[in-house]
Amino acid sequence: MNTLDSARQVTACRVCGGVDWQDVVSFGSVPPANAFLEPAPAYEEDRYPLAVISCRSCRLMSLTHVVDPEILYRTYAYATPASDTINDHMRYVADVCRTRFDLPAGGFVVELGSNTGVQLRAFQEAGLRVLGVDPARNLVEVAERHGVRTLPEFFDADTARAVARDHGRADLVLGRHVFAHIDDVAGVLTGVRELLAPGGVFAIEVPWALDMVDDLEFDTIYHEHLSYFLVRTLVTLYERHGLRVLDVERLPVHGGSILVFAGLESGPWRPRPSVRELCDREEAAGLFGDDAYRRFAERVETTRRELRDLIRGQVAEGRRVAGYGASAKGVTLLNVCGLDGGELEFCSDTTPLKQGKVMPGVHVPVCSPKRAAQDPPDLYLLLAWNYAEEILAKEAGYLGRGGRFVIPVPRPLIVSGETRAA
Ligand code: TMP
Ligand code: ZN
Repeated sequence: MNTLDSARQVTACRVCGGVDWQDVVSFGSVPPANAFLEPAPAYEEDRYPLAVISCRSCRLMSLTHVVDPEILYRTYAYATPASDTINDHMRYVADVCRTRFDLPAGGFVVELGSNTGVQLRAFQEAGLRVLGVDPARNLVEVAERHGVRTLPEFFDADTARAVARDHGRADLVLGRHVFAHIDDVAGVLTGVRELLAPGGVFAIEVPWALDMVDDLEFDTIYHEHLSYFLVRTLVTLYERHGLRVLDVERLPVHGGSILVFAGLESGPWRPRPSVRELCDREEAAGLFGDDAYRRFAERVETTRRELRDLIRGQVAEGRRVAGYGASAKGVTLLNVCGLDGGELEFCSDTTPLKQGKVMPGVHVPVCSPKRAAQDPPDLYLLLAWNYAEEILAKEAGYLGRGGRFVIPVPRPLIVSGETRAA
């Protein structure tokens, strides 16, 4: 199949309509990061160009190609992992969303990209009425089984109107790590505007582009992540769609994220100082000019080379290497660093949907952590580095027996029992 039939090349900026783009990085053609495959001897995989450009008007960083969401999301391999880091984070998000802008007791919460419904359960437990919207049919089934009502749809203006009609206006519309996956942001924001109650709040959690650039998190670039947002870019976007950014909070999850609260322009709330403060930090980091992006691309090249050389060097010295966490960013990392089954024996992952499959592009087999623990490697490449603290604590026994981890970004770092103790 000509994969370009199922991908759209970006021309105008989805935020401001601009057409003056700076090339940032290009990783060639890569398969979608969650397209885990059955192990088979010869596979023709669909690959799509993976490259980032930056709009010189509003400084949205965008992928050059948008893969058809029907391909990426209808059956989805990423289910919210059972992780203390994520559970604590979701409880925190539920708490701030309830208190920051006075969410009414018993109010109505709609979540976009609600996955298996773990986040919504935290709201349910606090006595709120909830509804999820998620296109992944396999995940909707799980959410419903757990008592979280979920529409198996993409969220757009039509879905929003249907929800408002059938369930009433929402006091909170929440989207955690989903807004950057959306191409038609105008359609979604139209929907949000029509769904929100007059004093309602729209909250999104997205990776902060400043953290991504500073900490060289180039492996978070994959086909699902169409946009890499600065606060300033979101202010521009929302202004164009009758919404106003009210408050922004930095959060440590997924390599550095921001929780961005917004309300209707006609609503009762006024912006808080955090909005200006974070825009100022973006300005001070040079992110409104070309140079910062050129430097980012150079530093990415260095890390790519260092990581490939380190892992190949370890293998050449006879050490057994495996991946830890078959994360979507792990798929990018291995594909763009030229590491595959030649270097990594396997990759362990807690997600049953991924176990028994092979990773896209590089075809490293995925197994359960239990299986991995029976014959652990000398070195684990930590592909789920956003859970480093939790995983290193959980694997204290492995480290104690001489096992080691490599944390790949910003620069490859070897962690052993001794370096942990130091
Ligand atoms: P995420 O960074 O997109 O949440 O993906 C993390 C992946 O790593 C996911 O497939 C689950 C997996 N994982 C493990 O295998 N072990 C762990 O301890 C954790 C926290 C995640
Ligand atoms: Zn733009």
